[in-house]
Amino acid sequence: MTPTHGSSTPAPTSPPGGDGRGFFHKHLLGIEGLNPLEIGYLLEIADTYVEQNRRANKKKSLLKGMTLINLFFETSTRTRTSFELAGKRLGCDVINMQTDASSIKKGETLLDTAITLNAMHPDILVVRHSESGAVKLLSEKVDGCVINAGDGRHEHPTQALLDALTIRRRKGRIEGLTVAICGDILHSRVARSNIHLLTTMGARVRVVAPPTLLPAAVERLGVEVFHDMRRGLENCDIVMMLRLQQERMRGSYLPSVREFFHFYGLDHAKLSAAKPDALIMHPGPMNRGVEIDTVVADDIHRSAIQEQVEMGVAVRMACLDVLTRKVRETELKNGGAS
Ligand code: CP
Repeated sequence: MTPTHGSSTPAPTSPPGGDGRGFFHKHLLGIEGLNPLEIGYLLEIADTYVEQNRRANKKKSLLKGMTLINLFFETSTRTRTSFELAGKRLGCDVINMQTDASSIKKGETLLDTAITLNAMHPDILVVRHSESGAVKLLSEKVDGCVINAGDGRHEHPTQALLDALTIRRRKGRIEGLTVAICGDILHSRVARSNIHLLTTMGARVRVVAPPTLLPAAVERLGVEVFHDMRRGLENCDIVMMLRLQQERMRGSYLPSVREFFHFYGLDHAKLSAAKPDALIMHPGPMNRGVEIDTVVADDIHRSAIQEQVEMGVAVRMACLDVLTRKVRETELKNGGAS
């Protein structure tokens, strides 16, 4: 399957008389193709949900009566749980499909599964799949909105949005910051989505990795390439570490995990090349002692890793809110419940 680009849906059009601000796509399949206004709008909405999630009463009935199906063909802790929480906090019915206990095990294809679920009228499908482009393909077969929760090496848009929200809240801006994305860039959909988002929002992005863990012609994405951690981290505002995705590696990418940690694992010695207030980020799950030293990961002054998880729920609430807005408004106009 070939990767597909763009955020999916037909080019967005502003509602007549609007100021152009908003998010008018039907699906969220990627960050590539989104503009700074659309990204900024999603982050603003997410900011409001951060505050809601810190209150004792976290629930709203905004999506009451709607159905969200989590369809994950790959494992997940953060993304699946936070979409479930996000849906429930907005009053939505949430179904978690157990793909390993579904008819996929009997040979049903992805598209037949999509068509079958579509017949049950879900309003939102959140999909993770090992193949780049699979989520877009599925989105063409269903009536509801589709959110890409990670497709192969292609994109993981809500991860980039939650990373951006974390950065913006900590640093007050994204524009003008220098961000080093380090480690297994080759297999990382998180890296791709972050590169698209951060460059679109005016950050300077560096990728730091051994040549074997970089995609061909990665500099065409508008990043600077470094093979040396200290040089790559010099004067950075943000150090974003990535998991070494050994499960996607076919063949020999590294001499050994120990050697990888020696040259590319983030420890306090390498971190000292970055700005003194540089933020440490990691999308999780972490491999402690492989790409990141445990002391650095747990450094309460520098590490934003737990905050990233918190922002994940707010960002996913914002995505559910904006993607269902048109359907909810139409329903309201037609006299149905909102
Ligand atoms: N960051 C991320 O996607 O984590 P999960 O695989 O746990 O969802």
